[in-house]
Amino acid sequence: MRAVELFCGAGGMSRGLIDAGIQVIQAYDAWPVAVENYRHNIGPHAEVADLKNLLSIIPEIARLAPDMICGGPPCQDYSLAGRRQEGENASMTIAFAIIATAVRPEWIIMENVIQAAKSQAWADARTMLKRAGYGLSESRTNASLYGVPQSRRRLIVTARLGERDGFLQSAIAAASSMRPMTLRDFFAPVVKNPETSPVRRLPRSREKEASEIRGRIGAFPENRRPHPDDIALVENGFVYSRPVRGGRGVRTIDEPYPTVTRTSWERPAPKYLSNPHPDDPAPAASTFALTRDQASRIQGFPEDWRWIARTQRDILQMIANAVPAPLAKAIGEIILARQAGQTIPAIEGRFLDWLERSGHRRTIARNIKSSAMRARRLLDGRTYADLARELANLDAVAGFASLPKNTRSDLRRALLLLAEFEASKKSRSKRRCPLASIETTPETLELANAA
Ligand SMILES: C[S@@+](CC[C@H](N)C(=O)[O-])C[C@H]1O[C@@H](n2cnc3c(N)ncnc32)[C@H](O)[C@@H]1O
Repeated sequence: MRAVELFCGAGGMSRGLIDAGIQVIQAYDAWPVAVENYRHNIGPHAEVADLKNLLSIIPEIARLAPDMICGGPPCQDYSLAGRRQEGENASMTIAFAIIATAVRPEWIIMENVIQAAKSQAWADARTMLKRAGYGLSESRTNASLYGVPQSRRRLIVTARLGERDGFLQSAIAAASSMRPMTLRDFFAPVVKNPETSPVRRLPRSREKEASEIRGRIGAFPENRRPHPDDIALVENGFVYSRPVRGGRGVRTIDEPYPTVTRTSWERPAPKYLSNPHPDDPAPAASTFALTRDQASRIQGFPEDWRWIARTQRDILQMIANAVPAPLAKAIGEIILARQAGQTIPAIEGRFLDWLERSGHRRTIARNIKSSAMRARRLLDGRTYADLARELANLDAVAGFASLPKNTRSDLRRALLLLAEFEASKKSRSKRRCPLASIETTPETLELANAA
């Protein structure tokens, strides 16, 4: 899969997608410092470009004919201002949608802060994507469930041409780990000799779980020397990070770190020390603050990543801006698995209740659900916003014609009922997203019923 990344920054998202097996063929950002870091650490395919220059950028990307357009448009406006005060940065979400819908690759990934979901810019971008024929999955993710020791909540929108809305939601949820990754999960394995080290490791019972969670970001190389700062952090056991909106300043290392920001490395200010949060688990003055290198690593940048910039402020900005690479990797792997037909969208349990309410006995309802799952497997996990197309593609699947007549009829009918169920859910929330309904016309009903 060949991807073009917009607003690539220093390359956090690219790093993760490349690790998943996606080829990033071109990347753009307006900030020369970020592009220099990208080129130094990832490859020469990044270019300085103002993505507002749609007339030059769209034909250039269209010529590359990517399978995917991805990116995290800048987001400060959403974080600071209300819906009516959205400014220049929010309009970059619109630029993203204009470029993506003009080039029309099969796949799109867009990352943004959670607040963007309620913005006018995203409402407009969403309308454009729907009109261009994309099905959307809008997931509110927490990076700590995808191999990152950081409670970073972000909106991840994945879109694919022709799909039904929500098509990837269950796969994204299924890829999350059973508990958030903590700082100890991330840093404690540096302790080589637990018997002699003063640093407390995890209890044996939690070691296995932690190594499974760590497995997502890969094991440390055997010959890796523990970094003194990592040992100091684990020994201290507490970490300070400048609180936002009156939250806690101090966490234990048995929690994920809060969202990495440009000020993450700062020591507590006198104002905080004289008026600490009542729930701080330790006095802020005696805690550890992440080093720049640790902040970079918990954002998923590899240990051998080299930052080049004249100011520390620029480096911290690039680190804070990034999509953590392990999160991007997880999303990339989920997309590649669906593309290869290795996963199918889950069917909600409520489908059975809905079938019962529509007059089917429970055993019959279960058969319908398993037929729908079988049909989805035959379709390689694809869903279609257009039911007639879904049924026509099912008919065209190799081997479908040789199935017994009753089976073919059951599979078609199961897909039809599933589409009706999903449309009934959508119609309840139609005022929220007026374009997101499934088309069931008399022709599609006829198609489904034809045996
Ligand atoms: C949230 S950061 C993206 C970080 C990146 N996804 C990563 O994982 O490292 C947003 C980026 O948008 C870039 N940007 C802002 N306005 C732009 C514009 N008009 N054209 C191109 N890039 C722009 C900024 O320089 C910044 O690097």
